[in-house]
Amino acid sequence: MNAGPQEPTLVVAVDGPSGSGKSSTARGVARALRLRYLDTGAMYRAMTWWMLRHDVDVSDPAAVAARADEPVIEMTTADPDAPAVSVDGVDVSGPIRTREVTNAVSAVSAVPEVRTRLVALQRELIGDGGIVVEGRDIGTVVAPDAQVKVFLTASQQARAQRRAAELTADPAATVSTTRSEMDTRDRLDSTRATSPLLKADDAVEVDSTEFGLDEVIAQIVKLAEERVAAL
Ligand code: DC
Repeated sequence: MNAGPQEPTLVVAVDGPSGSGKSSTARGVARALRLRYLDTGAMYRAMTWWMLRHDVDVSDPAAVAARADEPVIEMTTADPDAPAVSVDGVDVSGPIRTREVTNAVSAVSAVPEVRTRLVALQRELIGDGGIVVEGRDIGTVVAPDAQVKVFLTASQQARAQRRAAELTADPAATVSTTRSEMDTRDRLDSTRATSPLLKADDAVEVDSTEFGLDEVIAQIVKLAEERVAAL
């Protein structure tokens, strides 16, 4: 059986740490299977961008919690090649990738009120499925019934190199500074009390260190087709 658009209920969850290749992989899988695509990290980044923009002290969880309901966050999921995120009607797809947002996002995403609000929004966006969803807690919390769950990893050095290559516009983003900022973020994301980064028991772990992007995409597409055929 073919896991095409005739399978609207299919949900593919792709979780893993930063720099593991999640975004390129998840987008490629969505393209190959003609599914929608949702980047949940972009939603936490959008929330963080709004907090910084409104001078909320992001190191104060109570201050963040008090305003977590205010930003209107909208996601475009239809085309994996053109994902967009807007806050209060403003497209913030570019601004959410700055170092300032990147270094504040772990603190904001650890606040339970932020997670409650964004998880509800993510479930609405997932709707009846037909979507690839990437994040940290998709297979464990957001979509525990997803038919396909992948936990994507890569060696720390490979992850730091990929991240630094993505940030070439920023002269401060060497491999070593990127690696230490990434380590800090991973530690915060993995040790927070609410929905930490965690491999779901039924997730398939894929280590992308030794594989090219196309190979990783092909592995996950095959897995999805097998799962759909077995339904
Ligand atoms: O995938 P990313 O690097 O754009 O994610 C940004 C941050 O958002 C990441 O440091 C942790 C947080 N996040 C999260 O807590 N839960 C998710 N489902 C996705 C991202």
